[in-house]
Amino acid sequence: MKWIVANWKMQLGHCAAVDLTKTLKKSLGKAKAQIVLCPSFTAIEAVGAVLDTSSLALGAQNVCAEMVGARTGEISPLHLGELGVQYVIVGHSERRAHGETDAEVNQKVISVLSAGMTPIICVGETKAQRKAGKTNAIVAAQVKAALKGLHTRHRERLIFAYEPVWAISSQAGSKPAIPSDVVPVHQMIRRTALAAIKGIKASQISVLYGGSVDAKNARAFLSEKEIDGALVGGASLDAVAFKRIVESL
Ligand code: PGA
Repeated sequence: MKWIVANWKMQLGHCAAVDLTKTLKKSLGKAKAQIVLCPSFTAIEAVGAVLDTSSLALGAQNVCAEMVGARTGEISPLHLGELGVQYVIVGHSERRAHGETDAEVNQKVISVLSAGMTPIICVGETKAQRKAGKTNAIVAAQVKAALKGLHTRHRERLIFAYEPVWAISSQAGSKPAIPSDVVPVHQMIRRTALAAIKGIKASQISVLYGGSVDAKNARAFLSEKEIDGALVGGASLDAVAFKRIVESL
């Protein structure tokens, strides 16, 4: 199974998110992949109501690491679960850039799994780190840190999204990757995750690719055996482009 995840970031308000969901629900109802829509928190309930029993799933872009407590302005995994959220993006580079640490990412992964949802754990190196030949070391460390302390109760399904920071379209000077840049890193992420959790099966781990995926390059990435799907930012805001990405499977 492949996943195509739409990360709408902070680009769509409530009304625009509902409109786009209605269009996608009509056009993507029979998609071969599992589609996941990740709106802003304020649109989650309404997007979920539009999706209703459709095969498209509801996701969130972030979550609090704690389940309950005096955390003004935060959103508990339990609250997301109550609204029908099934997937939660954790550790996106845009959050890491604002101070989210590996330890927080780890706590969030554990909380998301405990609340019965699937984390989409973002990992990836910066341009300078790739240039310095540190890609594998940086990404492996992110993977290991994200999975620290996970045990048998916590290993239903783990989705990683390998997103080299230098390839994300919103980054100044970004440059799209090509499959040969990323496939070896996907292999390494899978190997590292398998080694990090005793007894986990390869079938429980999926590794998506993210970074400037669009209607033109999607097929090249998605046809790779090592790439289990895509996390799409900019191109997921356009119903036609997003449909073409899904259809390139
Ligand atoms: P992009 O964003 O597809 O616009 O590069 C991907 C992401 O940041 O998740």
